[in-house]
Amino acid sequence: MKILAIETSFDEAGLAIIEYEQKGTTTSIEVLSDTLFSQAEAHEEYGGVYPTLAKQIHAKNLVPLLTQTLEEANLHITTETTEVTSDSLLKIQTVLEREPEMFAELSGLLVHIRKPDIDAIAITHGPGLEPALWVGISFAKALSIAWDIPLTPVNHMEGHVAAALAISNTNKEFVIQEPQLPALALLISGAHTELILIKKWLDYEKIGSTRDDAIGEAYDKAARLLGFPYPGGPKISKLAQEARGENLLQPYSLPRPMLTTNDFDFSFSGLKTAVRNIVQSIEAPTDEQKKQIAREFDDAATEVLVAKTKSAIEEHAVQTLIVSGGVAASKYIRENLENLTKEYADMRFYVPTLDLATDNGRMIAFAAAIHDSPATPAEEILANGNLSIESESPR
Ligand code: KG4
Ligand code: ZN
Repeated sequence: MKILAIETSFDEAGLAIIEYEQKGTTTSIEVLSDTLFSQAEAHEEYGGVYPTLAKQIHAKNLVPLLTQTLEEANLHITTETTEVTSDSLLKIQTVLEREPEMFAELSGLLVHIRKPDIDAIAITHGPGLEPALWVGISFAKALSIAWDIPLTPVNHMEGHVAAALAISNTNKEFVIQEPQLPALALLISGAHTELILIKKWLDYEKIGSTRDDAIGEAYDKAARLLGFPYPGGPKISKLAQEARGENLLQPYSLPRPMLTTNDFDFSFSGLKTAVRNIVQSIEAPTDEQKKQIAREFDDAATEVLVAKTKSAIEEHAVQTLIVSGGVAASKYIRENLENLTKEYADMRFYVPTLDLATDNGRMIAFAAAIHDSPATPAEEILANGNLSIESESPR
């Protein structure tokens, strides 16, 4: 089976083509192509992702990304005789009626290329920013009409889980196997902080989540308070590591929100407010003070993640810890969670490579592959900004 996957839930557009084979609970995958367009620069001045702008930039980039993705997979084959019927083009025009420029660009491409050898189109239908999700969904529907290829909707959070479980020596061929269960997935990104319990393979139960800001959002806001552009999470991590390396004093102290509460929920907005108070009291922090604040922030956030994960591991006799999402790109957080798993005999630890931790198209293809998802009629595929990973569980 060959899948073209499309991810546009947030500020990254990712497309990928994979070929996969499923035997029982083992999925073997070959990545044929993988392209990404990150909008981070465009959102710098807003200090966060601006949904309408995200949608507009996706609309501009999807057709060029598709061309590149097909070329990389050797599926971009030009033809003199158009394979897309005028009836299909009319239907595509209706699907893309809100994106006339994208329609013009896409129809220009479609009339010049052969129908690619692809069996299904996987598309992220949530969670995320709805305008951004919709533009990807409409694009996927247009391609489905053009080439008569079935669609399969994918949950973005399941994509993060699949990315962590995908094992590879080559970064091209991957194997995903059912992990030792029960497994716990800690999903940490710019929009989510969730603890997901997996007692049965592909059956998800959300046992904890953030009550306010997501962890990545808190990193980005703290970074902004220190004068760094969006997304500042990686900058905070970097400064914190420098502070540790230089053994700087830790003159500031930040709260560890909900560290000892008797649940698996998180709260990060107080942490950000506490950073604001410190920054205001200093007025113009020096580079050294910025490092010290970044370190204290990184320590506080990591401590809370580790403590909550530890109590979930113990309460549910977890055998496997999966950590994924953009914030899982932080070396310090990965190391601390990996060290936590070493406290338990035979506990497995899965974390994605850095390029698979942040949003991308491959993770959506991987999730579609492990699910071996059935086709869904186009009219049933809708963007759902709040879609829960629990909706992927068998009913
Ligand atoms: O998963 P992702 O790419 O997008 C969402 O679905 O939200 O996560 C992006 C988030 C941003 O908040 C970014 O600052 C954060 O991940 N991030 C990091 C690091 N790399 C990315 N946060 C802390 N340390 C990092 N190294
Ligand atoms: Zn994500």
